[in-house]
Amino acid sequence: MPLNRTFLFAPGNHPRRVEKALGLGADAVILDLEDAVATADKAAARKPVAEALKRPRHCRGYVRVNAPATPFCYRDLVETIHDKVDGVVLPKVESAADLHAIDWLMAALEREQGMVEGSIDLIPLVETAAGVARVDRIVQARNLRPYPGPWRVKRVAFGAADFSLDAGLLPSHEEPELAEARARVVLASRAAGMEGPLDSPWFHLRDVEGFKRALERSRRGGFQGRLCVHPDQVPVANEAFTPGADEVARAERIVAAFRQVEARGAAAVEVDGQMVDYPVAYRAQALLDTMREIRSRGG
Ligand code: GLV
Ligand code: MG
Repeated sequence: MPLNRTFLFAPGNHPRRVEKALGLGADAVILDLEDAVATADKAAARKPVAEALKRPRHCRGYVRVNAPATPFCYRDLVETIHDKVDGVVLPKVESAADLHAIDWLMAALEREQGMVEGSIDLIPLVETAAGVARVDRIVQARNLRPYPGPWRVKRVAFGAADFSLDAGLLPSHEEPELAEARARVVLASRAAGMEGPLDSPWFHLRDVEGFKRALERSRRGGFQGRLCVHPDQVPVANEAFTPGADEVARAERIVAAFRQVEARGAAAVEVDGQMVDYPVAYRAQALLDTMREIRSRGG
């Protein structure tokens, strides 16, 4: 499974920032055609985005197209999708029907380009009142067409800025007002068998300590990564979603101790004063698997 700790946005109409973003160690970069690009510039931004994603890079490359309800979305997809694009971020998704329509178009474009249908990832951005209220139905959307392979939507992302605007919220600095929406997105994702979601950008660019606390809440709250809006956020978020050395050492002790007792027919053991049974041992094993993945990718 690819690493999904950091998805860094860069405005699609800003070649220097695009170039920089692609070399910063984010797990993925999202070249934006939506809110980082002024309406007057949207059409002209498509070509440079498509070109930038043809060049060699070390991270995954996504395009954020405009929302399905806008007049831009169709041409955004038609003019930017090619076989070097890893995925599409689709903003303001409010229904399973939105995903089915976009999936249909993406499959047609994949076919035209000689690609395997369903191979380009699709990340719905849940960021409206209706999107959060109906997130269950969004994450339960399934492949309607019989192309081989899994459904292209594997995880969703949460967008706090648009959600706050649309829901009429004025979140305070630590964002307790958004906790319920976040929890709904996480719970619905997992109940539908999806990966943990990606959390919203953090907008207070100068408050690094606040960002670290926000990352801790994201990780503990079931998110697997974060959308980033500034290059400096990437190393901080990568670190926050990488298990620390003490966590790894503890997980190793748990897995080893549990293996021993399980081999003797028992299913509980005490490690560092904590009772370890199957869920605790599975969690420790999952942490070690994540760590192996991160190391194998040089992270
Ligand atoms: C991201 O797009 C957000 O609205 O927070
Ligand atoms: Mg948004």
